Amino acid sequence: MQGNVRPETMERITTPALAEAFIDQQVRELRAQIGDKKVLLALSGGVDSSVVAALLIKAVGQQLVCVHVNHGLLRKGEPEQVIEVFRNQMNANLVYVDAVDRFLDKLAGVADPERKRKIIGAEFIRVFEEEARKQDGIEFLAQGTIYPDILESDGVKAHHNVGGLPEDLKFELVEPVKLLFKDEVRVVGKALGLPDNMVFRQPFPGPGLGVRCLGAITRDRLEAVRESDAILREEFAKNGLEGKVWQYFTAVPDFRSVGVKDGKRTFAYPVIIRAVNTTDAMTATVEDVPFELLQHITKRITSEVENVNRVLYDLTPKPCATIEWE
Ligand code: XMP
Repeated sequence: MQGNVRPETMERITTPALAEAFIDQQVRELRAQIGDKKVLLALSGGVDSSVVAALLIKAVGQQLVCVHVNHGLLRKGEPEQVIEVFRNQMNANLVYVDAVDRFLDKLAGVADPERKRKIIGAEFIRVFEEEARKQDGIEFLAQGTIYPDILESDGVKAHHNVGGLPEDLKFELVEPVKLLFKDEVRVVGKALGLPDNMVFRQPFPGPGLGVRCLGAITRDRLEAVRESDAILREEFAKNGLEGKVWQYFTAVPDFRSVGVKDGKRTFAYPVIIRAVNTTDAMTATVEDVPFELLQHITKRITSEVENVNRVLYDLTPKPCATIEWE
């Protein structure tokens, strides 16, 4: 199998033809490596794990077991899309795990951002481990490691967290896109027939909406984050900002303010909109979203999302703010 260093002679995958050649080669190599054994994959629905799933479906079909863990912190429509694309359209062997209550119970009352991240990561491994133990005859673990993961973090895909499985579940790794950069993974994903909104999606943190429902997560504020994020994404798509702005999302803090609706006093949460551009996520500038569009989004969020009475736009670049709020 390929080593962990990208050869200087390796051509950058920029066209469908180059992607097809890569896919053909990977399918051959994956079949040679896996034979008639079974492979397990944590399929989040993000670009990298989705492309790995599609490659493996092409190479070994039903020998791939995909596990999609819904931890309750995914964006609106994401679990449904994973099921639709992989189970219904690609006929994958997909285990869907509804772990929403389990994660939210573990997170109840926890306000510290790093503790929240640790709980989400640890619980993810535990759920994945339980599912792995239910499967017979697994010999391989597939991961959506990409080249920047190898360059930046010793090959550990922090938000996948599957590196933490116990000793008796140490499978041989299958990492078909580990020498590719993100833009190449997207070209390969497109050639594999994955939908554009899966292939060209903006970055999304592993702990998901958990770090955007600020402080201790509650179900009402989590729903406010999910619903307002869906409105923001819909409006950015409609207004030509999807694919132009690097990352955009909403966050909901854990305090309320006074407002008025239909002549009645309200006491509800604010929604914060963030929209930034960057090349490497180390620094970021704020997108100059047209004021009229911000006003329109504000109107929609305050009338369509429950428990919300204000919308704020975050004007802070990175530094001195980070992109996420936690
Ligand atoms: P910050 O907030 O540090 O974010 O400026 C930089 C980029 O990293 C993403 N991010 C995360 N991704 N797990 C992840 O997988 C995390 O815990 C995490 N925190 C931040 C963030 O969305 C942005 O793209």
